[in-house]
Amino acid sequence: MLSTEQKRGFRDNGFVVLPDFKSSAQLSVLKARAEEIAAAHDFDASQEVFSTDQQRGPQADRVQDYFLGSANEIRCFFEEQAFDGHGKLTQPLAQSINKIGHAMHDLDPVFGDFSRGDKLAELARAVGLRDPQIWQSMYIFKQARIGGKVDWHQDGGFFMTTPGSVTTFWFAIDDATLENGCLWVEPGGHKGPLRQQFIREGRKTKLIDLDATPWPDTSTAMPVEVKAGTLVCFHGLLPHYSAPNTSDKARHAYTLHVTDGACDYSPKNWIQKRKKSPGSKDFPVRGLL
Ligand code: FE2
Repeated sequence: MLSTEQKRGFRDNGFVVLPDFKSSAQLSVLKARAEEIAAAHDFDASQEVFSTDQQRGPQADRVQDYFLGSANEIRCFFEEQAFDGHGKLTQPLAQSINKIGHAMHDLDPVFGDFSRGDKLAELARAVGLRDPQIWQSMYIFKQARIGGKVDWHQDGGFFMTTPGSVTTFWFAIDDATLENGCLWVEPGGHKGPLRQQFIREGRKTKLIDLDATPWPDTSTAMPVEVKAGTLVCFHGLLPHYSAPNTSDKARHAYTLHVTDGACDYSPKNWIQKRKKSPGSKDFPVRGLL
């Protein structure tokens, strides 16, 4: 799956770019399914906006519950700029959704097919995951003009294991360019410390500062402009961010966050899964096959 050079690149730079990992037919099927889920979203029942500003605002508890409830369900979140000052959508619903999360890989057969298979399992082995476990899936729409930026962060802080193992699989569903808000990474930045940890305490979550090392900026980072179908696989400590989408077309991407079951998964992580029990909707964490 990975050449010696690609394995070295992953080790030294913290990421590897694999063009044509998915076929255009596979991309079309996933995109159509994501758009179907978004179109079926019950807007009246949940006018939640997934933004840190909202989470600090008066709606904080409602937004927080909606977010936490998405850990093992399929829920839609809105772009921060999707609403005017009166809470009305400024554009059609289908162009207002920021993302779908966070358990499509377990609950939706189309997403399940896309998220598993020999090719992915082989790649996971090549980057050192002995017993891959998928904790989270996100379908990101990055809508035209209003698709917001995602600040610098490390995914390792959201899925802590001992030792650290989370690895991100980032699939470009559309071409990702500078203009439409492609991923930026800091090559080699995964050798630095974990700066923050996102934990759950009851019905609350918090971001704890662990290390004061500054985040990179675009002078030391590089953009990862890739064609649709490319998979960018990166280390949990790799700092990354994406700029707003200033173009007139959406830029879809799909991500999976995968840890190694041979490592201890922190009970403080916001997503927990339980063994299926009679009468409950719980289900256990599953791998890539
Ligand atoms: Fe991330």
